[in-house]
Amino acid sequence: MSPPLIAPSILAADFARLGDEIAAVETAGADMIHVDVMDGHFVPNLTIGPAVVKALRPHVKTILDVHLMIAPVDPFIGAFRDAGADILTVHPEAGPHIHRTLQAIRACGAKAGVSLNPGTPVEVLEPVMDLVDLVLVMSVNPGFGGQAFIDSQLRKIEQVRRRIDASGRNILLEVDGGVTDKTAPACLAAGAQALVAGTAVFKGGPAAYADNIKALKRAGGGQGAF
Ligand code: DX5
Ligand code: ZN
Repeated sequence: MSPPLIAPSILAADFARLGDEIAAVETAGADMIHVDVMDGHFVPNLTIGPAVVKALRPHVKTILDVHLMIAPVDPFIGAFRDAGADILTVHPEAGPHIHRTLQAIRACGAKAGVSLNPGTPVEVLEPVMDLVDLVLVMSVNPGFGGQAFIDSQLRKIEQVRRRIDASGRNILLEVDGGVTDKTAPACLAAGAQALVAGTAVFKGGPAAYADNIKALKRAGGGQGAF
């Protein structure tokens, strides 16, 4: 098994020093930077908007992975792409036309992701598989960092893995929520390739980031040393 891609969620970073925090986790081995956008409506928490994403963009040397937990989402696709998002991931419940939303993401040149909440069935992917570059399986209910991993989502990761393999398309399978060095091995065994982790990466402050990321990479089977 090759080492997983690690996408630190800046939700767990020091918000007064986001540029430095991004540089620190990238130096420590992060493969992507995961930004959680919340609107206090689709999820019960508020975070940041396109202006902050734009300010962060020059600090991101890897991939800017923007997870939109907002509804309606369609009116903001352009703004987040203009802000510099490489990947825009949306929830099917965030609007009436997931197919149209994914078309809009592709049309503005970003990679398109679909996120499945713990209560969302994998079947929603079927009619839109040809428009998807990434599937984000939520292993917590979205809204907050630091929640406990929901084991039942491992089966969904397996189901998504089978669908991706059957499609023959190059679609990244990412898991988000409660990912630690304890829960990561099961995610990877189920077929995940990328791990979003907030608490598990940022705990202990900058001096610990490299070890924290290494511990997650090793969950793939010991090949994560760098
Ligand atoms: C939850 C967010 C996650 C979260 C992960 O709504 O989508 O990205 O920040 O945080 P941890 O790793 O602490 O569960
Ligand atoms: Zn997220």
